[in-house]
Amino acid sequence: MIDIDVLKINHWLNARKITLLQVKNKNKKLYNKIKKRKNFSISTKELSFLKKYLNIQQNDILLKKKLPDFIYFSKKKILSTKRPIKRDSIHFYNYYTLPSPQGFKSPVILDILCPHYKVPKLNNGHLEQAITVNLGPGDIYGRWGENIKKKENFSIIKSNKSKNNWIVGDTYLEPTYLSHSYSLVDKTPSQILSYTAKSQLQKFSENSNIWPNQSYKNMIKAITKNGQKITFIKSFLDSRGLDINYIAKKLRISKKQIENFLKSKKISIKNKKILEKICKIMNVEPSIFNESKFNEDRVGKTYKSYKDCFKSIRKFKSYLVSSMSASEKYPDLFGIFMKVSKKKMVKDLEFYASTHYLATSGKMFFYIKNKKIRFENGDSIWIAPFLKHGFSGDGSIIKISNGECIDYQDINEINNLFDYKKTLKRIYKDNINWGYDT
Ligand SMILES: [Fe+2]
Repeated sequence: MIDIDVLKINHWLNARKITLLQVKNKNKKLYNKIKKRKNFSISTKELSFLKKYLNIQQNDILLKKKLPDFIYFSKKKILSTKRPIKRDSIHFYNYYTLPSPQGFKSPVILDILCPHYKVPKLNNGHLEQAITVNLGPGDIYGRWGENIKKKENFSIIKSNKSKNNWIVGDTYLEPTYLSHSYSLVDKTPSQILSYTAKSQLQKFSENSNIWPNQSYKNMIKAITKNGQKITFIKSFLDSRGLDINYIAKKLRISKKQIENFLKSKKISIKNKKILEKICKIMNVEPSIFNESKFNEDRVGKTYKSYKDCFKSIRKFKSYLVSSMSASEKYPDLFGIFMKVSKKKMVKDLEFYASTHYLATSGKMFFYIKNKKIRFENGDSIWIAPFLKHGFSGDGSIIKISNGECIDYQDINEINNLFDYKKTLKRIYKDNINWGYDT
């Protein structure tokens, strides 16, 4: 038997404009199950019927596990996930996994084992952008490119051995597909926390991978010729049935100006006005084509030393905190170092995003609902969004979020809603049909 989410079935019935009465005529047994408005199990035969009748795939209606309030992993449990990995014929890293719900990205801790006298061999990079934190105790070398004489390709990621050592070390944010590798700087061992976020490109990757080959080839051909922005603007115009003659007349700009704009590979300040006018006629928000400048080096990473972190030390509720490396490019991926010193029970935290915590020193307690959980050096917690919680005791924590429960694009959609209160109320566990045959 296969577990089916009745909310997903309801959504697909609505989307396909098929009423329950119509299901009843086709398959009475299934109708009786859906009618109860509770999750239900179906046979493979019933699944085949639904797949065909609703023109969907199995995954579209499968019941997913509900998220827990939180997941706690002790240091011991994290150590038990240890798995060695080889690269360049040596024992290169040990990986350890932090807690995460099923299907969510999991942060990992790595033992850096490549010795100081060896240049660490690069990996191939990955889709997920990531924040890397040197957990110490040693400094490490980071490598991001072939030519290690260039600073952006090879530099020391320091561990903090001085004051404010709750800020454990340097942090940096690495973009999609940047190759990276690490080695020790001397005989001192060291670890890193590698905290990946779901890439906003994952949806595009999954979608484009099922395009016809020719479609993707043609897109790349156009982008190679005109750059990605002009290619999309041109195709936006074509798709909406707008040609240069029409928009020149309508916008009272010369054809030449528009042609020059469509020949430029960059949206310069000079032609920003034209972009805005063209977007207006297309009913498209121009910001998606704007040239943005991000705080990043020549390989695309954003670096912050622990010393720079000292500058942003501040009091926040019952904690001292400081911000890690971050970029406007990845608004879902951000972290802070936290120092805990409150003696008494406290539940002063609640965040819009799901959050990971890793205890980096000390003995603390974690509070949620009426629970009190020991939280000590090396322990880790994942917590769902919008739940009150807090920490007491004496110690330090790394807190990072990655936008997996709600991301900035979701928030952008919510912000654009016509009636956000009504929509947000309706969208949660929406089991209402669209209103016919009742
Ligand atoms: Fe990585």
